[in-house]
Amino acid sequence: MEKITVIGAGYVGLTSAVLLANCGYRVTLLEINKQRLDSVKSGRSFFYEHGVDELLQSALNTKKLTPTDSAAHAFRSADIVFSCVGTPDNPDGSSNLSYVFGVAKEAIKYAKDGLVFVQKSTVPVGTGKKIEKLFKANSRKFTYVSNPEFLREGTAIQDSLFFDRVVAGSSNKPAATRVLDIYKTLDEKCLELAKIVKVDANIKNGGSYIQTDLNSAELIKVTANAFLALKISFANSIAKLADHAGANVNDVMDAVGADKRIGREFLNAGRGYGGGCFPKDVSGLISSAAEYSVDMPIMTAATEVNDSMPGYIANRAQEILGTLQDKKIAVLGLSFKAGTSDARKSPGVKMANLLSKAGAVVSAYDPHANGEAKEDLRDNIRVCQSALEAADGADAIFITTAWPEFREMDMHQLKSVMSGILIYDADNALDRSEVEKEGLRFVGVGIQ
Ligand code: UDX
Repeated sequence: MEKITVIGAGYVGLTSAVLLANCGYRVTLLEINKQRLDSVKSGRSFFYEHGVDELLQSALNTKKLTPTDSAAHAFRSADIVFSCVGTPDNPDGSSNLSYVFGVAKEAIKYAKDGLVFVQKSTVPVGTGKKIEKLFKANSRKFTYVSNPEFLREGTAIQDSLFFDRVVAGSSNKPAATRVLDIYKTLDEKCLELAKIVKVDANIKNGGSYIQTDLNSAELIKVTANAFLALKISFANSIAKLADHAGANVNDVMDAVGADKRIGREFLNAGRGYGGGCFPKDVSGLISSAAEYSVDMPIMTAATEVNDSMPGYIANRAQEILGTLQDKKIAVLGLSFKAGTSDARKSPGVKMANLLSKAGAVVSAYDPHANGEAKEDLRDNIRVCQSALEAADGADAIFITTAWPEFREMDMHQLKSVMSGILIYDADNALDRSEVEKEGLRFVGVGIQ
């Protein structure tokens, strides 16, 4: 079996490394951040993600996974390298590719000829060709394959095991085929792995293997994310209209999404999208299109709608409460979505800061993201250890992340600690009747 090196123990890198190691591949995982590396070596990922720790421990026990901070060792031992480093956004919205090119340069320095260099990081279309040129200019005989990642945080293992599609694009077809073959091995093992992480194996549906040219593979990834972001902003635009016209956006989207051409997924209105992918992938697409002198007004509009949502919700709350000044408000949900501790570009954090700036006395709580969110929260926001602690004495509660813990909250108990009655469901997560039966006032996004 091929020897694989994964670069970067982030969400994508660590998930890929532990899955491949549990498929029987010998995997070296390069991570230069000491804290993250120590955490991985001890069998714990530095982020919360269902199933990753179990697979990590099993890979360490069988010695199939070797975490290291030595680039020389990691590259020299590899037949195939999966590059999974971050591509954060620059202040102007473009993608910062310094880590991506850094990995390519290290490969040039250390790897042996014949290396298959697989790019899993999300990069603007055209990046692969630039890296190919770099390899050539340095007389290295590497082949480059774009293999974009589609996993979602919170369901990363499940998405990887039960994928809709795997894409590999390269100017070298056999290299792309070799990469797809690795995923076929993963597919064969998927039921076994599903047992270790206790995910429902019944959802196995037989994903497709798609081979394309290099530029198309790169464009597939950002196009998919941009389209999903577009769906959310579309749903949020309709939600605003529903609020003003007196309609229920969930009912509208249930019926609209029943049309197979449209589909119901990613039409959930709420406080907008956040996280490490959508905001930067959309701005990255706009800026990469601009490099080719192509305008993307449709994506600019999606961004504007998304950016407007926290303010829109705060304004509506102000109308309902009369003023936000000195109102005690609990914001429940600081991760960018349920199922993850990730608070990057989190709408819940934005909402909490916005309400606090408007004069409200804000307390906040998240089951997994308190620690990560804290540094982005205004100093005067109190971070609490439970939903009930945050709700104590509150005039209003904002649900900003659809955690099961919030969906299943005992509304009777909640009301008994509040001083007001407003429950603003900013992620359209709750069962309205459960809220109203306790005499609380329910308001959603696009649901009055
Ligand atoms: C996304 C893509 O789904 C995944 O394929 C890609 O590889 C990485 O980016 P992720 O960022 O983990 O994954 O989260 P996702 O579940 O897509 O949600 C993104 C954001 O959109 C969250 O803030 C979520 O709350 C929001 N969202 C999602 C909505 O507001 N409405 C929806 O209907 C769906």
